[in-house]
Amino acid sequence: MKIIAPATSANLGPGFDSLGIALNSYLVVEVLEPLENWLVDHEFGSNVANDRNNLVVRTALSINPELSPRHLKVTSTIPLARGLGSSSSAIVAGLLLANELGQMNLDQTMLLQLATRLEGHPDNVAPAVLGDFVAATYDEDWCDALQLPYPKLSFIAYIPNVELRTKESREALPEKFAYRKAVHGASVGNVYVAAVAKQDIDVIGRMMVKDEFHEGYRRKLVPDLDRIRTVLQHTAHVGTYLSGAGPTVMTVATQAQTAAVVAALKAEPQLDGEVRVMSIDRLG
Ligand code: HSE
Repeated sequence: MKIIAPATSANLGPGFDSLGIALNSYLVVEVLEPLENWLVDHEFGSNVANDRNNLVVRTALSINPELSPRHLKVTSTIPLARGLGSSSSAIVAGLLLANELGQMNLDQTMLLQLATRLEGHPDNVAPAVLGDFVAATYDEDWCDALQLPYPKLSFIAYIPNVELRTKESREALPEKFAYRKAVHGASVGNVYVAAVAKQDIDVIGRMMVKDEFHEGYRRKLVPDLDRIRTVLQHTAHVGTYLSGAGPTVMTVATQAQTAAVVAALKAEPQLDGEVRVMSIDRLG
């Protein structure tokens, strides 16, 4: 049996803790033979547990403590702590694992509720469960999440060689926020979602770079965001945003624009991380 959960990119510009998209990099969990104790083979190194403390197993046991131990093999093309939803993919995979092994018959709505409760915000787990583009809200009790088809665009990830923990990146955010800024930020997010519904790429691009809620505060932690916006000033693209809590910076482009964007990013000597062209995963 194989369990698969996709990478995700949250916020998409103005949709802090609310908008996200599923992308075509994956965490794959292969379920092997029963064992005395849980054993997780993986290639993440010694900082990631290989026993029942592994996030996939921990998540599965949190909703079904009776599960019998198995040998699991985990492979992934989602880099850790880079703003591409690696922990959400592990949480969603853990829930799917418990659902399959424990024959729990959890439907998508229940998976979404459980995943959001565990993650604390819905913008990675919701697209990991539902696929495609998702607008979601969570009030500590219930997550409402609606999926819309996003226009067929490329997501060009600039993935730096350094990790940035979500916790650290969230600590850069202010405790309080001016009323007028909040109203403007919400209006930008609303128009963004309407633009997705209308498949209006121009408006998506304009709204993508008008975030009020987080990018400005995280600038110091992720200088590559401003750097890439400068690098791409004269290269046609839809927009650029900080993927989740960073440090990955995402550039959205049409298929026709993609090669030039990749070339411009690769030509900039200060950008020595990975440039990965990703596409939307609509989960079938
Ligand atoms: N919306 C979250 C943040 C995503 O920006 O902190 C983190 O994965």
